[in-house]
Amino acid sequence: MCCPRIRTTAFNLDRLTYAGNLENLKDIESSDRYEFIKGDICDRKLLESLEFDAILNFAAESHVDRSILDAAPFLKTNIAGTHNLLETARQRGCTLVHVSTDEVYGSAETGLFNEGSPLLPNSPYASKASSDLLVRAYVETHGVRAVITRCSNNYGPYQFPEKLIPLVILNAISGKPIPVYGDGMNVRDWIYVEDHCRAVDAVLHRGRPGEIYNVGARNEMPNIELIRLLLGKIAEQLGMSEDRLTGLITFVKDRQGHDRRYAIDPAKIEGELGWRPETAFEDGITRTIRWYIDNRKWWEGIISGEYMKYYDVQYGERLRG
Ligand code: TYD
Repeated sequence: MCCPRIRTTAFNLDRLTYAGNLENLKDIESSDRYEFIKGDICDRKLLESLEFDAILNFAAESHVDRSILDAAPFLKTNIAGTHNLLETARQRGCTLVHVSTDEVYGSAETGLFNEGSPLLPNSPYASKASSDLLVRAYVETHGVRAVITRCSNNYGPYQFPEKLIPLVILNAISGKPIPVYGDGMNVRDWIYVEDHCRAVDAVLHRGRPGEIYNVGARNEMPNIELIRLLLGKIAEQLGMSEDRLTGLITFVKDRQGHDRRYAIDPAKIEGELGWRPETAFEDGITRTIRWYIDNRKWWEGIISGEYMKYYDVQYGERLRG
């Protein structure tokens, strides 16, 4: 009797809240190795009814501005949801890769954060720090085979337009003001989404249980410099005047508790797992802008209804004042 071939099947468990969108996975939806399940990581019964041998936890409330407006969904999904996944991993004896963020370290006044840096989160989004500590506790107490990744700011196609890079691209294309918080000199460390995905894959297959891996592309930039770079490239791709686009830049009231700088050291994942970012920033940015220009239908469907209500709460007064 011959053995059946082992095939990896990915279940995508997603509650499809405001940023969830099945359009984003059209390319793989007909694959017999992929299955979508609408559900919540806070639903323990649902988790218990599924068969799997590894969990990748990408499920999170992730937008800092929304966490300032209302922290409750962040605590529920990011902490209680992670607790459910940990319990499931403990019962099954399966691997858990917990995808976290560099924001758990807080603001880097100097130097780079490494995996041993203290956790000093400043926004309610960084409830992710609570979940990281819970993961650590389950490793120590129950021997759960969990690994934590902490990535820097992601960008790329399909990103929900509440985040800075897609927001700038869409507002520039639509001729709307581009809101820059504070003096625009806050620094973020940017990584192309596919580089991040390859890092998570490397950690799933080769990461050591109980370890933490920073995932960054050594690519720090002040926001205003990034915005000017984006506008130059958008002007080039659309054949528009760059001056007209830079005229949309509007400095607005700063975000509360706004971290001045994020910067992480990815030496550990590079040295131990041989992972390297492969996308040069200028190439990633050019590709991302092209994608939003070519996929107007995707984002036109998003920037209405709930999104516009949020946009008004977030920016209405700031832009009027
Ligand atoms: P964001 O994409 O929200 O990511 P994070 O807060 O996780 O870093 O913001 C990136 C940076 O851009 C951050 O310093 C805040 C700033 N920002 C603006 O200046 N204006 C905006 O409209 C947004 C959304 C962000």
